Amino acid sequence: MNQRRFRTRAVHSGQQPDPHTGAHVTPIYQTSTFAYGSFERGRRLFAGDEPGYLYSRLGNPTTRALEEKLADLEEAEEALAFASGMAAISAVTLSLLKPGDEVAFIGPLYGGTEGLFFDILTRLGVLISESVSVAELSEKLSMATRLIFVETPTNPTLRIVDLAEVSALAKARGILSVADNTFATPYLTQPLKYGFDLVIHSATKYLGGHGDAIGGLVAGRAELLEQLRSEGLRHLGGSLGPAESYLFLRGLKTLALRMEAHCDGAERVAQALAQHPLVSQVYYPGLISHPEHALATRQMRRYGGMVALELRGGEAQAKRFLDSLKLFTQAVSLGDVESLATHPASTTHQLLSEALRRKQGVTEGLVRLSIGIEDPEDLVEDLLQALNALEVLEPAASR
Ligand SMILES: Cc1ncc(COP(=O)(O)O)c(C=O)c1O
Repeated sequence: MNQRRFRTRAVHSGQQPDPHTGAHVTPIYQTSTFAYGSFERGRRLFAGDEPGYLYSRLGNPTTRALEEKLADLEEAEEALAFASGMAAISAVTLSLLKPGDEVAFIGPLYGGTEGLFFDILTRLGVLISESVSVAELSEKLSMATRLIFVETPTNPTLRIVDLAEVSALAKARGILSVADNTFATPYLTQPLKYGFDLVIHSATKYLGGHGDAIGGLVAGRAELLEQLRSEGLRHLGGSLGPAESYLFLRGLKTLALRMEAHCDGAERVAQALAQHPLVSQVYYPGLISHPEHALATRQMRRYGGMVALELRGGEAQAKRFLDSLKLFTQAVSLGDVESLATHPASTTHQLLSEALRRKQGVTEGLVRLSIGIEDPEDLVEDLLQALNALEVLEPAASR
């Protein structure tokens, strides 16, 4: 295992001077196919008797450098890149599950993931079991449970799932455990260290960091990744292109620096919001009031860049608040250097049933903030001026 520290590995892992030109930065191998040179070499490559690139859906040198870097940062045996976070999640579930198997998850998850589970996997005969805590999950596990899926912190309510507890439950029953580590990134939490089998990322978010590329990554045990490569990539085909791979390689080099700045800003914002009378609740694992603050302190290096707040007055207040923000951009996604704000109930989690949204705490007054790397004081000023706009409007709203 690479003994160097995270920041050093983020810069150097997966990157060697280009063997042909000496290029210091991994070039973009913008090619769909690779000449195999001779009839016999083609046969050997296709049979897997000789390593080498064949076709960019199956592998590409720029993408391979990204996979090696992420594998090192997650301390995984292997990693594989996909065209999006959802391509990664669908490849994992479609490659590893069969009809009659059950997926047990702790919600809320990203709305697209729950959509895949409830709309597509159920149609293919896979059973879905939803819980909101490890205790509920543990009670609901059955002989059919084949895969446990968690996010930590959860999207958008920022609850923390005890990874050691979930992985022990899974191991005791021979169930695969999968963690979507998009919110934490390997800089803050490494689920594989707690015994998880696979880690998934929407690389679109913090790993890329600049809001300019869509991608996904999976890391974990080599034998599972091999199955994913042969079925999830080869047959399902959601491969990441070399240009995007280059952007993620570049983004990852500054992951630690950006995460420190995201965490600085989020801590400051969470504290400022917690004192405001129109905010009934702030969800941030770094606040002592957070129900899993102690667990977050054990499991995470810092508390992350995402903050959610509950506004008194439901959707009407959330709408006014979001429309009054000047520095924050109203947009889905997260993990960009720019701060973003969204209303999950009407966007990312819109398609979930109302009952499920209510159970998972995705309420009408909930606003999710992705804290960028701007000066935290400018962010606090913007949020406070938007909250002040509410105070002016509130008497009219209650008439
Ligand atoms: C936690 C989480 N997982 C997965 C995804 C899906 O990733 P992508 O948009 O790259 O497909 C998202 C997107 O917002 C997410 O927030």
